[in-house]
Amino acid sequence: MLIKVLGSAAGGGFPQWNCNGTQSAAVRARVPGFRPRTQSSLAVSANGRDWMLLNSSPDLRQQINDTPELWPHSDAGPRNSPIKAVVLTNGDVDHIIGLINLREAQPFSVYGSDRVLATLDANSVFNVLAKDKVPRYELPLGEPRAISGAGSSLGITIDAFAVPGKVALYLEDAAAPGFGSKAGDTIGLKVTEQATGKAFFYIPGCAAIDGPLSNRLRGASVVFFDGTLFTDDEMLRQGLMAKTGSRMGHMNISGPDGSIAAFAKLGVARKIFVHINNSNPVLDEKSDARKTAEAAGWEIGYDGMEVRL
Ligand code: MLT
Ligand code: MN
Repeated sequence: MLIKVLGSAAGGGFPQWNCNGTQSAAVRARVPGFRPRTQSSLAVSANGRDWMLLNSSPDLRQQINDTPELWPHSDAGPRNSPIKAVVLTNGDVDHIIGLINLREAQPFSVYGSDRVLATLDANSVFNVLAKDKVPRYELPLGEPRAISGAGSSLGITIDAFAVPGKVALYLEDAAAPGFGSKAGDTIGLKVTEQATGKAFFYIPGCAAIDGPLSNRLRGASVVFFDGTLFTDDEMLRQGLMAKTGSRMGHMNISGPDGSIAAFAKLGVARKIFVHINNSNPVLDEKSDARKTAEAAGWEIGYDGMEVRL
């Protein structure tokens, strides 16, 4: 199985269009040690020809142009695409808007939780993907599903599970407990290659690592995990936004309640941060934060990164 990181940044990308914070300014100025990043998505293939996207970001058009594996095949007629399926982990703008780039009556399948599919159904612009060409399939939590699309079986099974998190920002109900979040608003995925049984986890948004999630991840070969923020209040301290990571449904990397600490005893062979916000100091290759994460055995995902399983 081949996994490609199409986009390693969180919502907004790196640099973010309206951000003049130190790091967005540095990447815009091409300061060495700062690498541009597009928004959050992976591409996965078991056979090297048919591909599944995990989330579809607003930068998908650029990501396809930068990834030859996702270009139309030269032997399959004037209109075709290797993208056979898209699997969504939440309804956030950075994860669903790329679907709009996949219009043009090209058949493929969309998979998501009932909560995320309800969001697509409630927004008529997504009807540009007519359901007779682009069927939407529910991923029931805890029931593994074989993924297929446009008549191809991808040789991949996905097991979706709820993780601690929050409903998408634009769906928040200020008056409701947890802003109206329910199970299925944020899911993690276990992605298994059917032929070999090899598997990895993809969890780009996660508010906490609780007991059930620790048990699930223990001993995993590869985990791509929420690397949004290094510290909970970094956006406030940098004057970027008056919100903490926990308010946004993202756990931080550092500290006793952070992901480095939570993974320390889980025995995961490869741990890779994705969905990294423009404020996160790990994006500065020379920073202490970067050294701390790498010393703890973490890799910092980057656009174009390849992982073979
Ligand atoms: C998030 O991951 O919290 C969201 O993508 C934030 C946003 O929509 O800007
Ligand atoms: Mn996001």
